[in-house]
Amino acid sequence: MMVTRGAILIKNGRVIDPSSKTDKVLDIYIEGGKFSKIGKNLKSRDAKVLDVKGKIVLPGLIDIHTHLREPGKENVETILSGSVAAVHGGFTSICCMPNTTPPIDNASTLDFILEKARDAHCNIYPIAAITKERKGETLSEMVELKNLGAVGFSDDGKGVKDSLLMRRAMEYSLMLNVPILEHCEDENLSIGGSMNEGYTSTVLGLQGIPKESEEIMVARDLLLAELTGARLHICHVSTKRSVELIREAKKRGVKVTCEVTPHHFTLTEEAVKSFDTNTKVNPPLRTKEDIKAIEKGLKDGTIDAIVSDHAPHLSTEKEFEYENAPFGMIGLQTTLSLVMKQLVEREILTLSEAVEKLTINPAKILNLKKGQIKIGHDADLAIMDPRKQWQFRQEDIKSLSINSPFIGWEFKGKAVCTIVGGRIEFSE
Ligand code: DOR
Ligand code: ZN
Ligand code: ZN
Repeated sequence: MMVTRGAILIKNGRVIDPSSKTDKVLDIYIEGGKFSKIGKNLKSRDAKVLDVKGKIVLPGLIDIHTHLREPGKENVETILSGSVAAVHGGFTSICCMPNTTPPIDNASTLDFILEKARDAHCNIYPIAAITKERKGETLSEMVELKNLGAVGFSDDGKGVKDSLLMRRAMEYSLMLNVPILEHCEDENLSIGGSMNEGYTSTVLGLQGIPKESEEIMVARDLLLAELTGARLHICHVSTKRSVELIREAKKRGVKVTCEVTPHHFTLTEEAVKSFDTNTKVNPPLRTKEDIKAIEKGLKDGTIDAIVSDHAPHLSTEKEFEYENAPFGMIGLQTTLSLVMKQLVEREILTLSEAVEKLTINPAKILNLKKGQIKIGHDADLAIMDPRKQWQFRQEDIKSLSINSPFIGWEFKGKAVCTIVGGRIEFSE
């Protein structure tokens, strides 16, 4: 790992910053960890010069939905190992979900994360639990957790079943000016399921999870957001009807944002026919029709952000039969390349539209002063080689877990250098 401090001059890159509608060849000067000059023909003085002609310079990518397994399962992923995987994927900021052991539902666990975050290779922002122990029974100390540094609240891994409790959580979140990030799932409807419910699940003999399990909770939470005026962020949208419900709610003025993962716009339930347990995710992979609706939602702005939902699990856990394997796949190192392959190359989104959903939009959702290449801002950058052909190999995985169905896939376009607060944290 090459870590460089001191001034850096990045020359001749195509700078794409959707926050200022920038798309042109520019030089960028970094001093004291901040952007200090942006322009043409900047002089190097005593700076380290990176000539990135032919490459694309982006604001550092921001992942607002990452699972690190520390505390509790440090053999599966630590804050440090997750941050290394992040910078290899072009991410300079990641937000970690609270479903750790113990969960991030109290001040000391939050402090522990913030302490560990100081040694990480990228910025780490903790999301705290909505309810104590994520049990859905009583609210966590939301005010205290927010004041200590939680950027949002979520019981991700499950939904909040009790509508009154969700209403109260939203009321607090409104007062605190942070969003509720909701994993929309009616757990009774999902119970025992391990893939999308439909013809394919019947043929495979696997119990299904109906789309309604997600959609019922999306509908409820949209209504509660409307009732309370709170900011609701819906995690990993996977169905056509969810996209439609959110589109309608946005039209009515409900303060809702939402996200999608690369696996939900890349793979369908057909992938489960392999019985590869790395295709087992929650919400499950859906159908072609759902992907079409997600693409439309991305294009028209209904879907604001793209997130990894990086969810590491050990091979020994994933080696169970499909029904008994845990849900989740890693994603930090493949997100950008899947966005390029599935959305940009196929002209679903322009490059600038795609980058917006990986930078400024997620920053806005969580009130982070990030995601822009702007003088005075932290110098977080991802440099991408759009022509680089590469294969995702198991030995390239920086995460402590290797649960990805994309191992062996070929890609064009890759992060080749990541700068966090003016430090080169990854370069190849
Ligand atoms: O696939 C998933 N993995 N979905 C979740 O909701 C939780 C996550 C995890 O923590 O493994
Ligand atoms: Zn979730
Ligand atoms: Zn998640």
